Formats: sequence, structure tokens, C-alpha cells
Amino acid sequence: MVSPAYLRQFGEPGGYLDFARFGPPSRAVLDTTARLLEQSAGAGSSTVDELMRQEQRAKAVIARLCRTGADHVVLVPNTSQGLFQAAFGVPGGEVLVSAAEFPANTYPWARAAEAGRLTVRGLAPGHVTADAVTAGLTADTTAVSVNAVDFRTGYRADLAALRDVVGDRLLIVDGIQGFGAIDAPWDAADVLVAGGQKWLRAGWGTGFAVLSDRALERLRPVLSGWTGAAGGGVFDNEIHPPAPGAASWSITNLSPVSSGAFAAALELAEEAGIGAIEACIAERVGTLEETLRSLGAQIVSATGRRAGILAFTLPGKPAAQVGALLAAEGVAATVRPEHVRLSPHASTPMAAADRLRAALSP
Ligand SMILES: Cc1ncc(COP(=O)(O)O)c(C=O)c1O
Repeated sequence: MVSPAYLRQFGEPGGYLDFARFGPPSRAVLDTTARLLEQSAGAGSSTVDELMRQEQRAKAVIARLCRTGADHVVLVPNTSQGLFQAAFGVPGGEVLVSAAEFPANTYPWARAAEAGRLTVRGLAPGHVTADAVTAGLTADTTAVSVNAVDFRTGYRADLAALRDVVGDRLLIVDGIQGFGAIDAPWDAADVLVAGGQKWLRAGWGTGFAVLSDRALERLRPVLSGWTGAAGGGVFDNEIHPPAPGAASWSITNLSPVSSGAFAAALELAEEAGIGAIEACIAERVGTLEETLRSLGAQIVSATGRRAGILAFTLPGKPAAQVGALLAAEGVAATVRPEHVRLSPHASTPMAAADRLRAALSP
């Protein structure tokens, strides 16, 4: 279980069950943001250089959490930008991706296909399992792209099994719905991209990509900017080749204030232990599930392989009505036409289940 010191970092309302949409940041993130912004307001000759070092701090934690070197890590401002980099960088051929993925993982491939760089092959509807991927692979497949945890069904992909069936092709993973909430074999991915605004609780404008050696060999950093060039920061009117390593994905400098906030959030998660956070989330998802079942709800998300997402319907009550009942009781959830989605974090009090019961009891 997580430490009391970790839990003291958070102050969201007890009925907040919407971490799959946005994770309210910690006090460490708030304090770091305020401190760095204040520092920038009083900028002196060395302030900008000092602030820019926050990026190294964030990359170092990501490298530790992903068991790789910092030269394999690049910060990105959101998941989508990382996936666009991947889509425009893959070496052509056919990319296998389900149309049911969150659109951050469908548009980049569609746009890269429109630009004539690759073709997209859709996976059969359903969970992205090793069997489904095996059935979709062809001799032309160069890459497979998948959400680590599906935003809608809550299904947690078996990354190790996917790695096995994908073989020497590139495995690209949108990890935003899992990273920080579950301990997964992230090193199975050739490209792992995750924004920090959900389960990592780092706020918007934060994210990273981790590239394997295979990815660094095969992906062409098409969208490499001046900060991604070899010998960065040389103003000699020449165009330089992309830098070696993941740094080649850099387009320009990111906000060092956001990078510092991201580092604070990552360090907090690392200190608490991802395994401990995962266990707390699983316990809360289990309790919410039991409560919902006792109220006659149908669980429509995955119940076997899952992470922090629990989706349900209540027979006879449209999702919008369920959402209104929850809101009236102070429960924040994602309400979609087809279901209501709950997603607790380690800081969610167990009493959130009582609120749920109070809101939905007949
Ligand atoms: C699976 C998945 N990918 C990506 C995103 C968001 O992408 P971005 O960080 O580009 O906003 C979300 C949710 O908003 C998501 O659920």
C-alpha cells in the first residue's frame, strides 16, 4: 500500500473518479510549477539554462522506470505528438492498428497514410490480443500500434505476448491509460508514448516517448527540429542531421516549467512505487465493481485483464441520467452515450463506494 506521505500530496474531492480523463496533480507538482515560474519571473543571466535542466531530471526518472538509458527518452508535450512522430517516422509498409483505439492512435496513422508514407490495415473489432494481432499480420506489416489500456473497454493489453507475435516488427504503444497506474513490461515496446496528465498526475503539457534500439535504427525522425539536430544549438545557417538517440524527435524546447512539474510527478510515483499504486487502484476498482453489481449494474468493461477503468450501464437508466445522479452526489465520472466510466486512483477514499451507492440506490 502507498505511504501516508504520498497520500498527503493530493487534495481532490473524495468523489473524484475520473482519472482516465484527467488526474488532478499533486502538491509537489503545484509547488514546483509555482517555484519555477517565479524563478523565470526574476530571470537573470543563468536562469534559462538552469530551468532547462529540468528536462534531464524528468528524463532520468522515465529511464529508471522503463529500465533504459536517458538517451532513449525524449519529452513530448502530449501523447498525440509522440504518436505523430512515430507514424511519420516508420519505414513505410503496412501498419496494423484497430479503428477502435483512442483517436490519438488512429489519426497519426491515417494522416501518414494520406501523405503516402504507409498503408493502414485495421484489426478485427475486439480486444487487441496476441491472437487478433497474429491474424492481422501480413508479409508487409512493419509496425503494430496499440493502447496499453483501452480507454473504452479498460482492456489491458498483454504487451509481452504482443511482443512475441509481432517479432522483429515495430511495436508501438500508447501507454497513457496505464503508465503510472500499472507495472507493465514497458520494455516490450519499441516506441512507448504517454502523456502525463492522467495517471501520472503531472498536469497538461507533459509527456514522453521511449525508443528501443530497434526503433532508433528503423524510424526516420522526419519531424526533427532545430533542437533535435546533431550538435544542437549551432547557429551556422546550415541544416544539420538529426541527433543520435531519442533526442532527434525534439522539434523545439518545451516549457521547462512543465518539465519540472513532470519530473516532480514522476519522482513521486517512483518513490511511492508503481506496484503499490497499482495495488491500491485494483482494490478500489474491485470495491466499486462490487457496489455497482449489488445495485444491479452491468459491468461492460474488461474484468480480467484491466487497470484502473471500470465502465458500467444501469438497466432502464440512460447513461446521461446515471451521470446526473452521480454528479448530484459529488461523483465525477466520464459519461458517454453508451456507458458511464469510473476510474479511481490510489488517493481515492474507499468511501467513494458509499457515494456511489447513495447516488444509484433505487
Ligand atoms: C488512450 C489515449 N490516448 C491518448 C489520449 C490523449 O492524448 P493526448 O495526450 O494527445 O491529449 C487519451 C485520452 O485523452 C487516451 O485515452
